[in-house]
Amino acid sequence: MTIIVTGGAGFIGSNFVFHMLDKYPDYRIVCVDKLTYAGNLSTLAPVMDNPNFRFSKIDICDREAIYKLFEEEHPDMVVNFAAESHVDRSIENPEIFLDTNIKGTAVMMDACRKYGIKRYHQVSTDEVYGDLPLDRPDLFFTEETPIHTSSPYSSSKAGADLLVLAYHRTYGLPVTISRCSNNYGPYHFPEKLIPLMIANALADKPLPVYGEGLNVRDWLYVEDHCRAIDLIIHNGRVGEVYNVGGHNEMKNIDIVKIICKEIGKPESLITHVTDRKGHDMRYAIDPTKIHNELGWRPETKFEDGIKKTIQWYLDNKEWWETIISGEYQNYYEKMYGNR
Ligand code: NAD
Ligand code: DAU
Repeated sequence: MTIIVTGGAGFIGSNFVFHMLDKYPDYRIVCVDKLTYAGNLSTLAPVMDNPNFRFSKIDICDREAIYKLFEEEHPDMVVNFAAESHVDRSIENPEIFLDTNIKGTAVMMDACRKYGIKRYHQVSTDEVYGDLPLDRPDLFFTEETPIHTSSPYSSSKAGADLLVLAYHRTYGLPVTISRCSNNYGPYHFPEKLIPLMIANALADKPLPVYGEGLNVRDWLYVEDHCRAIDLIIHNGRVGEVYNVGGHNEMKNIDIVKIICKEIGKPESLITHVTDRKGHDMRYAIDPTKIHNELGWRPETKFEDGIKKTIQWYLDNKEWWETIISGEYQNYYEKMYGNR
């Protein structure tokens, strides 16, 4: 079994690569990554010498390079993680989101059509459903919830999902899609809420909470997401969408307070800053389908996962300090300087 994993030098993709190489010693994993600001080759150092692993620096929009790789590797499956993934960056500059998230997805699926494939899996997001109101805790996103996006990021991911379903219906491509809630865990890029707050708290820097911090996200430990994708690519029904989420809704402000408490820093570091434009209020996944069909359920409780995550950032300071000392400084100044 040969699986092409795109975006494998990023947060969830790298965790998935580790999960697969560990669980399936006879599988070949070919990681394709453009190594954008969010991709980090050092993350993959532990598997670089594994004979079942290959890394290839390719932009998924580069049709010629992708076709050449398919000719070399004859993959059985593709799992497409590669994406521009940060909502705030999409608000600043949508164009690259359209290129990678939509066009790149089409290129990967065209390669699958041309060379044949057992499964194309699209890693999507709960953000394609838009948001839920705070005063309706009885509402959840199901796979039937209409697509109703808010940001350029979520719109580009929704566009990709629609293309994936169209390639299934029109060309019979054997696809599956997973729509997961917010992940957290090791190798999470420090522009995102949890690692940003951990890094800032450790440095006694202000903790920038957008608006009142009342927005709700449904947090899932990254390994639980990787197990869900593993189950879907092996046992999921072709043409189907599977929601993935842990019934773990939390307000942003509460997450930041927990991080302060765990690290032993005062809540006075919390600074309320200008809200995100078009900020989604609440995400909440109904994971009944993947539970009933594939037996998936989350295994890591948030109180354990957040402790493990903080410990990982303490033990791997070099990884994230290198990231935040470079170009990231300019991004941070631009995003937070005048908020
Ligand atoms: P990430 O930003 O950490 O990693 C993205 C990776 O894709 C990076 O390694 C980057 O170099 C690579 N990449 C970007 N453009 C590329 C291109 N044109 N060609 C090849 N590689 C390219 O993102 P993440 O948080 O790991 O998210 C991975 C996927 O999961 C994305 O599709 C995202 O939409 C989806 N997702 C993320 C979450 C979450 O909470 N992080 C939740 C649900 C779904
Ligand atoms: O729901 C899945 C999505 O989760 C994925 O599709 C995205 O790729 C991923 O980035 C994530 O999107 P969010 O916008 O929910 O994540 P982020 O970590 O950027 O923000 C989480 C919440 O925290 C959100 O309500 C905005 C808020 N926030 C974020 C940052 C970076 C702050 O209050 N302050 C911050 O500095």
